[in-house]
Amino acid sequence: MNGLQATLQARLAEGPLPAAEAMALALYHPEGYYRRAEGPWGFQGADYYTALDLGPLLGEALAARLEQAWERLGRPDPFVVLEPGAGRGWLGRDLLQAAAGGFGRALRYLHRDDNPAAAAAAREALAPWLGSGQAALVGQDQSLEPFQGAVVSNELFDALPAQPWRWDGERWRYEALEGGQPVWLPGHRLVHRPGGGRAGARGRGALVRRPAGPGGGAGREPAGRLVPGHRLRRDRGPAGGQGGRSAALPRA
Ligand SMILES: C[S@@+](CC[C@H](N)C(=O)[O-])C[C@H]1O[C@@H](n2cnc3c(N)ncnc32)[C@H](O)[C@@H]1O
Repeated sequence: MNGLQATLQARLAEGPLPAAEAMALALYHPEGYYRRAEGPWGFQGADYYTALDLGPLLGEALAARLEQAWERLGRPDPFVVLEPGAGRGWLGRDLLQAAAGGFGRALRYLHRDDNPAAAAAAREALAPWLGSGQAALVGQDQSLEPFQGAVVSNELFDALPAQPWRWDGERWRYEALEGGQPVWLPGHRLVHRPGGGRAGARGRGALVRRPAGPGGGAGREPAGRLVPGHRLRRDRGPAGGQGGRSAALPRA
């Protein structure tokens, strides 16, 4: 039995394990999917590829979009672009390569992704800009000064632990594992403490960093550091990968 299995079993012995917490363990435990030394990306026999594997178009389009935002904000210098879930840093690389003129000089790109394989790949992809400080890798728990600019992400939100809920006609129920079986339990049994963890649970770290019930979400902390600026996220559409969506949220 490996460490992740032992943690899972110990946690299940305490009582029902909400689906989002099970997902968080599978993803972020030291032996979890996003903590492996080898990256899961690529075309041949790998788990996934993203738009960035297909070419620089997304970075170029983003550069044009962000330059407009920079103009609207009065050309702030620096104009900081923070990317949570940045993976290999390829979007930042393509963005920095495409940005030109005054915008290119003002642009600072912050890569944020605690996946060790992603960080190693990003150091390579961003090498031309790391020395000058035009690009930097910032840890997930590293606090940021308020900045003007944008928070962007690609294929992050569909990678986060999610808590399925359903309405049974009388009350909300959440999906959990109990005794190794999936069950739907009344929502009032799921009471989150700020910072993660469930009321009544003993001796566990806060692996789920965000409350996972209805209204919980990701990406608020980075946006919270954003003084006038934009948040732009892009994720896949419905199953089959068609119809990606994006949202720009003006905060000026
Ligand atoms: C599907 S990959 C996308 C990577 C990259 N944005 C791209 O388009 O190639 C999702 C990335 O999000 C990161 N990630 C997963 N959960 C995260 C979280 N809670 N906070 C920040 N990053 C996370 C993973 O380490 C992984 O690199």
